[in-house]
Amino acid sequence: MLHAQPNLSQTAQSMSEASLDALYRRPLAAKRTGVLYGAFPYPTKISPDSIALYIAAHTKPGDTVFDGFGGSGTTGLAALLCERPTEELREEAVRLGLDVQWGARNAVLYELGALGSFIGRTLTNPPDPIAFRKAAEDLLVSGETEDGWMYEAHDPSGAKGSLRHLIWSDNLRCPDCRSVVALWDACVSLEPAKISSSFSCPKCGHTAPQDNAERVTVQEYDDVLGEQRTLRGRAMARVYGSTGKKRWSRLPTPADLTLVKKIEAEPIPKCVPQALIPWGDLYRKGYHQGITHVHHFYTRRNLIVFGRMWERAGCYSGELRDALRFWLLSYNAAHGTIMTRVVAKSAQKDLVVTSAQPGVLYVSGLPVEKNFFAGLRRKLTTIARAFETIHGGNGKVEVVQGSSCDVRLPSGSIDYVFTDPPFGANIPYAELSFINEAWLNTFTNRADEAIVSPDQGKAIGEYQKLLTRSFSEARRILKPSGKATMVFHSASAAVWNALQCAYQDAGFDVEYAGVLDKKQGSFKQVTTAGAVRGDPVLLLGARREDKAGIESNAGTVEDVWTVAAALHRAAAAEHDPAEASAQRLYSRLVTHFLSHHQQVPIDADVFYRWHAEHLLPGVLHSAVD
Ligand SMILES: C[S@@+](CC[C@H](N)C(=O)[O-])C[C@H]1O[C@@H](n2cnc3c(N)ncnc32)[C@H](O)[C@@H]1O
Repeated sequence: MLHAQPNLSQTAQSMSEASLDALYRRPLAAKRTGVLYGAFPYPTKISPDSIALYIAAHTKPGDTVFDGFGGSGTTGLAALLCERPTEELREEAVRLGLDVQWGARNAVLYELGALGSFIGRTLTNPPDPIAFRKAAEDLLVSGETEDGWMYEAHDPSGAKGSLRHLIWSDNLRCPDCRSVVALWDACVSLEPAKISSSFSCPKCGHTAPQDNAERVTVQEYDDVLGEQRTLRGRAMARVYGSTGKKRWSRLPTPADLTLVKKIEAEPIPKCVPQALIPWGDLYRKGYHQGITHVHHFYTRRNLIVFGRMWERAGCYSGELRDALRFWLLSYNAAHGTIMTRVVAKSAQKDLVVTSAQPGVLYVSGLPVEKNFFAGLRRKLTTIARAFETIHGGNGKVEVVQGSSCDVRLPSGSIDYVFTDPPFGANIPYAELSFINEAWLNTFTNRADEAIVSPDQGKAIGEYQKLLTRSFSEARRILKPSGKATMVFHSASAAVWNALQCAYQDAGFDVEYAGVLDKKQGSFKQVTTAGAVRGDPVLLLGARREDKAGIESNAGTVEDVWTVAAALHRAAAAEHDPAEASAQRLYSRLVTHFLSHHQQVPIDADVFYRWHAEHLLPGVLHSAVD
C-alpha cells in the first residue's frame, strides 16, 4: 500500500523499522474508554494508553518526555502508565511487534490554561486514593443529608422518590395566534422520540419553521448581582425520577413548582463566583441571550447545591482539597449547567440525556437539569479508580501553568516530545474553560494561546508565529537526536501549511507519518472494525543541515488526484473500506505532502466533493484506471 514514508534519517533508523512501521504505518488505535480517559472531560484529548505506546517505543525507563500543549495531562498519564502498563497495553505492544522496555518515565508538561494545568497536575499527582474516597463520601453524605430535599420528587403513583433529571423548555410565541407555547409542546413528540424543526401550535394548529417562532423573554431579579436581568422564558417540560430501584417519568406537577419556589427563598452560597464572562468566539446572540455571568449557566437549585458542595470541599486543604475540587468540576460545566441536553436517537421511545456539546458553550431550547448528587456519585467511582491507577509510582510528572513559547528547561535535557497542539480555529480552550476556572478563581492569560481567533485578533499568521515559538523551544530542549511525535487534524490546507512552516522554521522535519484513530472501543475493536476517522501523526526529527535551505514546494492539485487515486486503488486491492473513505484519504494525502516537504494543496471539503464524484465504489475504475 502507498503510504507516506520519506527517506528515513539516520536517527529514525535507530528505532527498529518494524516498530516504526507498527506505530506510524498502520492506523494506531486511540480508544476513548477507561477511567483515566473518563476522569475529566477535556476537548480533543487522546487516550493515555495510545500515547503510552509511542512513549514506550521511543524512550527507555528513566527518560523524560515533554509536552508543550499539555491540556488535561494525558502525556503525563501515559508516561506514568509505562511503569505499570495494563495487561491490555502489554498485549497491544506485543501484537504490534513493538520493541519496548516498560518502566518509569518522567514528564514535564506546559499548559497555558488554568483549568487544563489544574486537571493535569491533579490527575498525575493524585492524593492517597483511600483518603480521597473517604473525604468524597463524607462530602456526599453531608450534601445529601442537608440539601437532598431539593431533588425530592414523587412518582406517578404519589410515592416519594428523587429527581434524576428535569427537562426545561424555552417558551415560544406562535407567529399566528401569538400564544405563548412551550417548545416542548410545539416541537417534541415521544414514542418514538422526535424533536422537530417545525413548530406546530397546540393552540391554533398553525405550523411554521421553528426559527420563525420568536423566543419569549422575561425579567428576573438576580440576587447575586443585585439587579434585574432579561433572560429566556422557560417552563418545566418533563420530570424523570426514581423511587427505590424503579425509574419513572411524568409531566410536571404543582408539587414540582412548589419545590422550585421554596428553593428560590434559599440564599446563594458566598463562594458562587460573580464572574463576568469575557465572551469571545463562542458567543451566539440567540442562545446566549441574558447570559452575562457564570452563574447564569445554572438553575438556582444546581447553583446552590454545587456552591454548598464547593464550600464543603474548601474545608480540606492541600492535595486532598484539589482532588475534591477536581471531582466536583469533572461534573460541573459538562453536566451541572443548562448546557446539558437531550437528543432524539432513532428508534428510541424517549429522548436521551447527554452532556454539554463538546467544544462550544451551546445552550439548547430544551436544557436539562441533572441531579448533582447522583452524577457526583457515579464520577466518584471513576475518579477514585483513576487515582488508584496512578498513585504511588516512581515516575514524576511536573505540570507547569505557562506558555510553551518560553520554557524554563535547560537545552538538550529532554529525551522525547509527544504533543497535540490546538488545531487552528477548532477550539478556543480558554474561553471554553472559563466556567470551571471561575470556580477555581484562577484564569488563563490568553496572550500566547496558539489558536486562530477572530475575537483575539489572531489570524493564521499569528497562530503560525506562536506555534513556531513553541516548537523552537521544544527543539532547543530536546537532545540532538531526540524525536517529537505530533498528532494534528485540520480540514484546512492553510492550517496544515502554517503547521509545516512552524515546525520547519523551528528546525524540525518529518521523518515518518501515519494516522491515529480516535474511536470508541477497545484497541482490538478499533483495529479490526474498519475505523474511518484518522488524525495524522507526524514523527519529527532535527532538520538536516543539507535541507536547511529547502522551502516547501506547493503540491499541485493534479498531484492530489494522482496520489488519492493510487491510495484508493491500494485500499481497494486490500479490501480496506476505512482506508478508502474520504476522511482517511484526506489524512493520508496530508501526510504524503508533509512527508515530501511539500505544502498541502487542497482543503478537505474540496477533496470530499472530488471523492464523492470520482471515488465512490461504483465509479472506482473510471477514476483510477
Ligand atoms: C489539543 S489540546 C491538548 C490536549 C491534551 N493532549 C490533553 O491531554 O488534554 C491543546 C492545548 O494547548 C494549550 N495551549 C495553547 N497555546 C498554548 C501555549 N502557548 N502554551 C501552552 N499551552 C498552550 C491549550 O490550552 C490546550 O489545552
